[in-house]
Amino acid sequence: MKGIILAGGAGTRLYPLTKVTSKQLLPVYNKPMIQYPLETLIKAGIRDILIIVAPDHAGDFLKCLGSGREYGCHFTYEIQDKPEGIAQAFMIGEDFIDQDNVTLILGDNLYEDDFSEAIKTFKSGGRIFAKKVTDPQRFGVVEFDANNKAISIEEKPKVPKSNYSVTGLYIYDSTVVDKVKALKFSDRGELEITDVNNLYLKEGSLDVAFVEGKWFDTGTFESMHEAISFARDRHLAKEARSL
Ligand code: G1P
Repeated sequence: MKGIILAGGAGTRLYPLTKVTSKQLLPVYNKPMIQYPLETLIKAGIRDILIIVAPDHAGDFLKCLGSGREYGCHFTYEIQDKPEGIAQAFMIGEDFIDQDNVTLILGDNLYEDDFSEAIKTFKSGGRIFAKKVTDPQRFGVVEFDANNKAISIEEKPKVPKSNYSVTGLYIYDSTVVDKVKALKFSDRGELEITDVNNLYLKEGSLDVAFVEGKWFDTGTFESMHEAISFARDRHLAKEARSL
């Protein structure tokens, strides 16, 4: 299993914080934001990791994370020239992925869960992770039938068909590269991860699992504030345990 962290995008919703740096380098309590998704991949046993960054602050990511040796990992870096969507990460990462399975995590998503089992048991197709939220309009939304089977996924729907958001960790087999190559840009000018998920869904090979612990997408000031409080509580609890 290979890993990709996508830290592209302009972070316009967090302006002016993102005037001089990337969103994923902003502090979340005591660490740069990107370190949380990195730790999620490492905890899940992934060691070969591609980090995709926007061109503006690429050097700062290298300075922040380095070669990977410090973490017992091997890091590769690539640039996403323009914010053209999450799914584009698989085209940028085509050579890196090769014939392997791949887990993509967004550089601004924080998880409490441990994904080791989900990754170990993954064979082929796609596996995504949903979470009940109060503001589904901000996300990809999964619709379930009466038997809890996923039947549709919509990107930022005005009238969401459920309260279940697709969160920012995606496990796919290597067919994801060809799937993305067949996509068209959406109205917002992006290659949509939701379109990739719908292709797997149509094939009957998409498994929708659930996030059990806390999950934060730090795309807004409010969600970033919540993530910082959570990171602080967790850090202080850990310190208390080690006393
Ligand atoms: C993106 C995806 C969306 C997903 C979300 C998770 O949204 O497009 O489907 O639910 O990440 O964080 P964006 O970050 O583009 O708002």
